[in-house]
Amino acid sequence: MSKFLITSALPYVNGVKHLGNLAGSLLPADIHARFRRQTGHEVLFLCGTDEHGTPVELAAHAAGVPVADYCARQHTVQADIYRRFGLSFDHFSRTSGEANRQLTQDIFRCLDAAGFIAERTILQAYSPTDRRFLPDRYVVGTCPHCGHPSARGDQCESCTALLDPEELRSPCSAISGATDVEFRATRHLFLKLSAFDGRLRDWLATRRGWPTLVRSIALKWLDEGLRDRCITRDLEWGVPVPKAGFEDKVFYVWFDAPIGYIAAAIEWSKAASGRDWRDWWQSGEDVTYVQFLAKDNVPFHALSFPATLLGSRLPFKLVDTIKGFNWLTFEGGKFSTSASHGIFTDTALALLPADTWRWWLAANAPESADTDFTLARFVDGVNKDLADIFGNLVNRCLAFAVARFEGIVPGAGQLGPLERQVASALDAHLARLRRHHESLALRKAAEEVRAIWRLANAYLTEAAPWSAIKDDPARAATIVNTGINLVRISALAAWPFIPSSAEKVLCSLGETTDSVPWPQGALSAIPAGRRIAVPPLLFPKIAVADLIAAQPI
Ligand code: MF3
Ligand code: ZN
Repeated sequence: MSKFLITSALPYVNGVKHLGNLAGSLLPADIHARFRRQTGHEVLFLCGTDEHGTPVELAAHAAGVPVADYCARQHTVQADIYRRFGLSFDHFSRTSGEANRQLTQDIFRCLDAAGFIAERTILQAYSPTDRRFLPDRYVVGTCPHCGHPSARGDQCESCTALLDPEELRSPCSAISGATDVEFRATRHLFLKLSAFDGRLRDWLATRRGWPTLVRSIALKWLDEGLRDRCITRDLEWGVPVPKAGFEDKVFYVWFDAPIGYIAAAIEWSKAASGRDWRDWWQSGEDVTYVQFLAKDNVPFHALSFPATLLGSRLPFKLVDTIKGFNWLTFEGGKFSTSASHGIFTDTALALLPADTWRWWLAANAPESADTDFTLARFVDGVNKDLADIFGNLVNRCLAFAVARFEGIVPGAGQLGPLERQVASALDAHLARLRRHHESLALRKAAEEVRAIWRLANAYLTEAAPWSAIKDDPARAATIVNTGINLVRISALAAWPFIPSSAEKVLCSLGETTDSVPWPQGALSAIPAGRRIAVPPLLFPKIAVADLIAAQPI
């Protein structure tokens, strides 16, 4: 038994997230955490809200509340949604908390003492109208390359050229539209990322099992040459910079956010006795650390955060495996929070049970390419997999047992060739399922779960207990016993994906759900004589029209 430290990228606190955020980090991390617990490992699964940065500040201003209050409220809203989605975090933290503030400052001091921090003067856009410095992407103007009239200060969306805000013609503030933007010289601190090129390359070479997507993004950044990164900002909201002359500045959100993973463990540790965060973050080989995140997060997790930890010379563990995801698109376009395009996690829960979304998003995870979510594909997929295959299996088998065996599990009696065939096919499926989980192959794992459901259904169809019961009741008993055990294994295999439905099935079989075991191949786990029941309908059929009627999307 080894230990697994598992983190999902910390969602920004501003606003309820859409299904893309769920599909591209939160849900896969939860499924992996559940699988590792199920196979007897010790797991620490951490997440939290990422609470700093200009968009958060602006959202608070728009809502007309102090930033701290806004964050506290939004954190609670998100935490509640994730609980309802069955995300089994051991702790859901906040990067604006005390633990993260202290740790971020400590790590900075160590980096500074080790010579990895440089002071530089840069030109920064300032808007007298807004009375604030403007981050690059909050300056808009005409692109010097293609003439596009509303290019952002970091990049032109039209010709994709990377820009510096002072290159824009007729710059103005994206916050107020004010045209009095000026460029002021201001002192900032840089993390000397360029000094880590060799160490990061050596370290990357020792990392195994990273998806090609992640490794290629990391290597591309290295090959293009790492640039020193400005880690301070002229803002009020954030972690204060503990250095003389920088008292009125805070750290850049991407400097303190990943440190929040460690701070989350510190908070978790303080919340109950017998917990020590150092066993997870500062111990050696017995902990495997896996991060789940979307592809735009790769450079921060594969390069700048590891460099931050290496440079601090503090004994923190670096990530072992990064599982990165492509994008989930919505009906052919981008999911977009700002344009309210897509399905948001709160709406999703109001429409259908969490498991319905969990199943489709995992079975269609954007692993090797982007996945397009369309209502038609979603409805078709969940009706087939959940209602027709899994739901039908549970219902036909248990309803027959209740109708013909009074809900009492009959003895297995004499197993025949068909049962032996099913048992060996099942062993093969379970071995593959385990391998797919271990290699973080989400879609393949879901396919294997589906194959187990199908196998169980095919067995019942072929064995036909409803015929056998007429002239060979002993044979019918064997089939029902085997069928009930197949239902149990089908639910256990499904549990990481659709935990609440799987638990309903296990409860109706009289199984405990305090800790859900990994399904062993044995088709004899449920003792004869146990009373079972038919669970309430697990997955009613859904129609696209009903979804649209309930909530115009
Ligand atoms: N909030 C970021 C995003 O949604 C992710 C932060 S991950 C962390 O893209 F490591 F920085 F915390
Ligand atoms: Zn352009």
